[in-house]
Amino acid sequence: MHIARTIPELRDILGRHRRPAFVPTMGNLHDGHLALLREAKPLGDVTVASIFVNRLQFLPHEDFDTYPRTWDSDCEKLRSVGCDVLFAPDEKALYPEPQTCKVHPDPALADILEGHFRPGFFVGVCTVVMKLFTCVQPRFAMFGKKDYQQLMMIRHMVRQFALPIEVVGSETRRAEDGLALSSRNGYLSEAERVEAVQLSKTLQAMAQAVRDGERDLAAIESRATRVLEARGWNPDYLVLRRRSDLQPPAPGEPLVALAAARLGTTRLIDNLEIDA
Ligand code: PAF
Repeated sequence: MHIARTIPELRDILGRHRRPAFVPTMGNLHDGHLALLREAKPLGDVTVASIFVNRLQFLPHEDFDTYPRTWDSDCEKLRSVGCDVLFAPDEKALYPEPQTCKVHPDPALADILEGHFRPGFFVGVCTVVMKLFTCVQPRFAMFGKKDYQQLMMIRHMVRQFALPIEVVGSETRRAEDGLALSSRNGYLSEAERVEAVQLSKTLQAMAQAVRDGERDLAAIESRATRVLEARGWNPDYLVLRRRSDLQPPAPGEPLVALAAARLGTTRLIDNLEIDA
């Protein structure tokens, strides 16, 4: 695996490749990331992963400084799935001057749900992803559905800027008990890890209520919220939204259930597409 620390090094390595398949990450890799790499492998003529903990998408009180940096095991995992190139710039290499030119995604999507609770988050995400796209010039870019709103945002950005990139959304990888894999799961204590599965269970209960024909979506949402609160969670949102744009749905529209909630000091997110 070639490792590029700077943009010129990356361009040198990628030289003659025309169809990179790209998996952007912030490191602390788990099986979900590796699944994205495996899916990327047959698509492009070279597989590229990036590791960059992007300060722009963290609020001042969030976990930028403590975000797990696990370089050696990340490299080992990437090699094990046959990743060809790792782009791992430091902040100076990716942002040599303050990144004052930013991508401001559509507030209708960027300022709701995650964007409401983490103001500026999607400006940070879209800006770094646009910059990484400029560096890697991928033909394919892989994102997990666990970050449902992020995936939707990136698709919108790619469409609006007519970027010649196919965005591939990949199913959420889960632990055996159903907990969505996430780098932040490592923050959970043993007891919290046991409890954490309740987030996906609650989403499943919401989906079941919809499938059972319950019409009052607000009632389903507040019941789910009460259930988690009673177990000691601190939910930011537990909602049923229209799948196409994450707005409140009209009757009969395809739905997705989305959740973000804090367990102790760890904030977890998850979602579930609801098939009628
Ligand atoms: O999903 C992530 O890990 C990050 O938001 C991303 C896409 C790598 C941008 O920093």
